Amino acid sequence: MRIDGKTVLVTGGARRVGANIVRAFAAEEADIILHVRHSREEAAELAASLPRPERCRILMADFAIPGAAAKLFAECGQVDILVNNASMFETDELVSGNEAHDREQFEVNFWSPLALMRAFAAQELPEGGAIVNLLDQEVTHRSAHGGAYALSRRALADATLELARELGPRNLRVNAVAPGPVLPPPWLPDGKMARTIPTLPLRRKVELDDLTAAVLFLCRNDSITGQILCVDCGQSL
Ligand SMILES: NC(=O)c1ccc[n+]([C@@H]2O[C@H](COP(=O)([O-])OP(=O)(O)OC[C@H]3O[C@@H](n4cnc5c(N)ncnc54)[C@H](OP(=O)(O)O)[C@@H]3O)[C@@H](O)[C@H]2O)c1
Repeated sequence: MRIDGKTVLVTGGARRVGANIVRAFAAEEADIILHVRHSREEAAELAASLPRPERCRILMADFAIPGAAAKLFAECGQVDILVNNASMFETDELVSGNEAHDREQFEVNFWSPLALMRAFAAQELPEGGAIVNLLDQEVTHRSAHGGAYALSRRALADATLELARELGPRNLRVNAVAPGPVLPPPWLPDGKMARTIPTLPLRRKVELDDLTAAVLFLCRNDSITGQILCVDCGQSL
């Protein structure tokens, strides 16, 4: 699939991983719909820095609110490529979890991306389309303190495979990238990620550009659907 001239919706696209994905698609001459929740200033700065700022629209939605994702999609017009990047990452033991909090993680990490995929699939896309879901290498195994976050990511991993099967006959491809450690969240105790890195088979963190390249690869390659590509320096092993 060619990326130039296509319209790409990137959720949570203002900062960090999402911003790098937005830059890469913009460099390939795609039209961007940049979704944000809180990071409006960062989104405006990012849009202004793109080669064609006028080809980047910024839309807001809080995916913790049921129905917000479908409403967002209705504002988009045609979307050829959907990148479900936004997520809520708060790990805890499942046994001590708070139900309201766990439900919020599922709303943001599973129900909202699923709603976007359903809305995407409801379009007429004669030239086909592609979805890439950002997951986590945790989907491949169980780890301590994965909690509701890991459960919600595994649910989205299953939905990725299920929808790939259902949507394949319409040339709508559904894949996922499962990252290892790229950028620590601001709340992570100092040094936790630094302690993890030497335990990975490749003994290094995932490069942001390598992760982004995997997203673009899965969009471009017309023969691939239903794949979950770990970009994790071997962490899932
Ligand atoms: N960073 C890593 O090392 C790593 C490792 C494994 C997997 N991943 C996965 O890779 C993807 C990107 O990682 P990241 O670290 O860049 O993610 P992140 O910073 O934790 O979150 C990305 C964006 O999600 C949006 N978001 C959060 N809650 C939301 C809500 N209720 N409604 C709508 N949007 C919401 C935020 O947008 P606003 O800023 O606009 O509020 C945020 O900027 C995620 O899916 C993550 O799970 C990342």
